[in-house]
Amino acid sequence: MTDTSQPVSLLGLPGSLRRDSYAKAVLAGLQADLAPDIRLEIGSIDLPLYNQDLDGHAALPAVDAFRQAIAAAAGVVIVSPEYNYGIPGPLKNALDWASRPYGKAALIGKPALVITTSPAFTGGVRAQDQIHGTLLAIGARLAGGPQIVIGSVADKIADGRLVDRASLDFATAAIRRMTAEIGAR
Ligand SMILES: Cc1cc2nc3c(=O)[nH]c(=O)nc-3n(C[C@H](O)[C@H](O)[C@H](O)COP(=O)(O)O)c2cc1C
Repeated sequence: MTDTSQPVSLLGLPGSLRRDSYAKAVLAGLQADLAPDIRLEIGSIDLPLYNQDLDGHAALPAVDAFRQAIAAAAGVVIVSPEYNYGIPGPLKNALDWASRPYGKAALIGKPALVITTSPAFTGGVRAQDQIHGTLLAIGARLAGGPQIVIGSVADKIADGRLVDRASLDFATAAIRRMTAEIGAR
């Protein structure tokens, strides 16, 4: 059983590198909205392109830090846009780094929740399927339940944060379900 007197520490990963990214704003809104028993650190997927030649005994410092951040977290919350009906390249790249070392990757068995966003009403739902597929390939423990897509996301953000109450409630409920499962382990 997890120590319930300590907050559960989750790692939030945006699927976008854009400075004013809506995905980052969603993570910032969730971070502010979650009760103090859940801490959401926001990480970055700004990593070099995956090259197996560079993935030897001594990992690149940025990759090392990325893998350690995943290992240290009790679970991962990915908030991502959709690029051309699919997973954005930078996010796929980061997940490929996170999938190694083979058989020992920090994401293996790690609880993971995926939220997609779009300025369109479709909410990035096609990318969500692909992100799920990649996480399944890696062996992460995908959080089940209703898919969380945030459509028309641009209208739901103020001052760099998600403020739409319905979206916040839907997403934080899913995060709570995931952390309850972590706590029960
Ligand atoms: C290369 C590219 C492809 C895109 N393809 C899609 C798409 O397939 N579906 C969609 O809903 N939005 C698409 N968009 C629009 C993005 O949802 C929008 O740019 C969004 O702001 C990106 O997320 P971010 O704000 O977190 O950076 C695309 C944007 C780019 C730059």
